[in-house]
Amino acid sequence: MMMAQARDLDTGVCPDRRSPARLSFALYCNVLLSICSPEADQMNTNPPVQLTANFSISTREQSPHPAQGLFSHNSVGIAGRQRKRPLGLLSDFVTDELPHRVEEIRCSEQPNEEVQLLGRSINAILSKADYDAQLLSLPQSDFGIAKTDIHYIVNCLYQTSAFAGLNPMDAERTVGDSLNRLARLSCQRQPSIDVLSYEDVILTNPLQSDPRLYCLGAAGVEERDFCLGHQLIEGDLQSAMDALLELRDTIDVDPRQCLTRCLKHLDSAIYVLTRFHERMSADLFRQFRAHYVKNPYKNRLGPSGRFSARMVAVSVLLMGEELFHQSPQFYRDIYRLSDHYPQACIREVFRWLVPDNGSGELAPTWLEGGGAAFPRSATVSSAVERHGYEIGKLRASCVRALDQFTRMHRNTALKYTIEPGHSVSGAEAEECVEAILCQRLLTARY
Ligand code: HEM
Repeated sequence: MMMAQARDLDTGVCPDRRSPARLSFALYCNVLLSICSPEADQMNTNPPVQLTANFSISTREQSPHPAQGLFSHNSVGIAGRQRKRPLGLLSDFVTDELPHRVEEIRCSEQPNEEVQLLGRSINAILSKADYDAQLLSLPQSDFGIAKTDIHYIVNCLYQTSAFAGLNPMDAERTVGDSLNRLARLSCQRQPSIDVLSYEDVILTNPLQSDPRLYCLGAAGVEERDFCLGHQLIEGDLQSAMDALLELRDTIDVDPRQCLTRCLKHLDSAIYVLTRFHERMSADLFRQFRAHYVKNPYKNRLGPSGRFSARMVAVSVLLMGEELFHQSPQFYRDIYRLSDHYPQACIREVFRWLVPDNGSGELAPTWLEGGGAAFPRSATVSSAVERHGYEIGKLRASCVRALDQFTRMHRNTALKYTIEPGHSVSGAEAEECVEAILCQRLLTARY
């Protein structure tokens, strides 16, 4: 199979439904790239947007928010500024070829043959080099992208196998031993769930420089913007978390400054979420989201915002004790599903929650009804109380902003997922999704 030449040439629809009139990808990318900062880690400088409280100063008129170009539906192409291909041919295949092959499978009258052919193509690439050794010798920054590449392929093979109706044995054969071993190795080097994770899709996917996606054309652009929007929010959550940690852990810090910074970034996250709610196409969402559902052959949840460890961290820092009294289930779920979260961050939160247990891995006794008290030291409560009424009010504004985010998120989830009846990816069949969406809300029950 020829490697695809350029993804902008594609429309992402089956050939018989191809539309002749499409805008050039360069136009869209220039718009997007001109407004976005380089990578997720550097996305902590979003301008404040006044949405929730009087403490933040709106500067949106002066500098555009990085999320302003998301879901603008101007073009259909994907392009990055800089190639990130840590696994050579294998990374090239994921980035340039995989969406085309997915499209061929989707449009094929014999999808089972196409899926098995895809498995053989991938295994042929794997046989050409010692990818195990290559993976283990990569520096950490490249390793993250390599792991993402591997799990994008594995997930694709399972999802397309299910689409083509392959039985579990044929699906395993399609994935093959070499790829399975490589996937296992990647999870040994960086402990994580053995399926495509939220961390792979949102945090390590080089979305702005060389995105990994499953769809072509307009659906691919929407898929990229969906992931990018999440990535921008993760940047804001990191900044909010940093400000709260400074308040909690540093003596002589200016509490007003810390909480104002936190509020600014929560407002910014709300602004990004508003773009999702108002601008994302429900039809395109349905198209790309199908690739990120639960693994159909393994008992594992799919990548979901539910597994944002930074969201957990901010919630615990700001209102951890109140959350415990209102929704102990929130904490039970985090411990039960801990493997799905980015490990470094969730383990840090666990250390706050069980300060006496160095590794922080055991579920806390205060959660199991052992009589122990919730560890207030995990939160900013004591620091806020030390500084009196005004600072208390400022913290309340932050809590309201977080609540507003959660409420708006619930409406967004209802609009795109639950009301249209699409399968959800980050919840077990026996869980009540409505309850999950509301369990961090302090001021109302659903
Ligand atoms: C159109 C966009 C979105 C839709 C349709 C959506 C949908 C959902 C759904 C259905 C759930 C329930 C669990 C699951 O099945 O995955 C969920 C949970 C969750 N999602 Fe999203 N989501 C969206 C965007 C986001 C964004 C941008 C974030 C930011 C990190 C996020 C964070 C969360 C969190 C934290 C939960 C757990 C519930 C909570 O604590 O509020 N989601 N989402």
